[in-house]
Amino acid sequence: MKVVTTIKEISNIITSLKSSQKTIGLTPTMGALHEGHISLITKASSENDFSIVTIFINPTQFDKKEDLDNYPSTLDADIKLVENTGCDLIFTPNASEMYANNIDVESFSFDGLENEMEGKHRANHFDGVGTIVKKFFEITQPTKAYFGEKDFQQLQIIKKMTVKNQLPIEIIGCPIFREKDGLAMSSRNTRLSKKQRESAPFIFKTLTKASQLFQSDSIATINSWIQTEFDSNPDLDLEYFEIANEQTLQTASSKSESTKYRAFIAVYAGKIRLIDNISLQ
Ligand code: PAF
Repeated sequence: MKVVTTIKEISNIITSLKSSQKTIGLTPTMGALHEGHISLITKASSENDFSIVTIFINPTQFDKKEDLDNYPSTLDADIKLVENTGCDLIFTPNASEMYANNIDVESFSFDGLENEMEGKHRANHFDGVGTIVKKFFEITQPTKAYFGEKDFQQLQIIKKMTVKNQLPIEIIGCPIFREKDGLAMSSRNTRLSKKQRESAPFIFKTLTKASQLFQSDSIATINSWIQTEFDSNPDLDLEYFEIANEQTLQTASSKSESTKYRAFIAVYAGKIRLIDNISLQ
């Protein structure tokens, strides 16, 4: 497995792969890798001739400098973990390589998907994600690209970006990986204190209960039940809970038989922001 840091080096490799018609699987990450990432990378390696992982903490998708500054960075450990996945190449550029000292963010329309949930709470987040993912797609020219369903809104937005720009890339969404107690795996979990870590499984517990209630209760009842649950939990602050249409991501206030729904949640444990979601079908 090779580790490269410049666009020039990776572009030479891509040119040679393309000339021999190899398929390329791309897993974009921001590092601090966990089992969820490893499952994506392993899948990418098994489904393609050549598997690439990008590790890059993208400054333009953070709305708070403090969040960017505190984002975990564990490159040596990440490289060791990736070694056992069948991955062929890690691309880990620095910010000036990716943005050429000019932190320009493209402005995207994802047909409204960007204005829901995370888009309401993290200013310009999806422009930052779109900008960097588009750059990685241009550089690596993948056949397939792999993203986790924990960031379900991001996954839908990237699918939309490939369709709107007619990119010949198949976007593969992969299931959320969870700790034994249900907490969705996230690079941010490593920043939780012992007490916050003990409290955090409450998020998935309430989501699971909400999915059971969805079978019998109204959306308004579930929304107010969730609010009450979090009001009585001193360790976790609910930022939002929404039941939304899985395709449009628009907030649902009533149910229709023919629509697929998902519940989405964002919670603060101290200053650490955790998100999760669950299918309601
Ligand atoms: O999901 C992530 O880790 C990031 O948003 C991504 C897709 C690697 C873009 O920086």
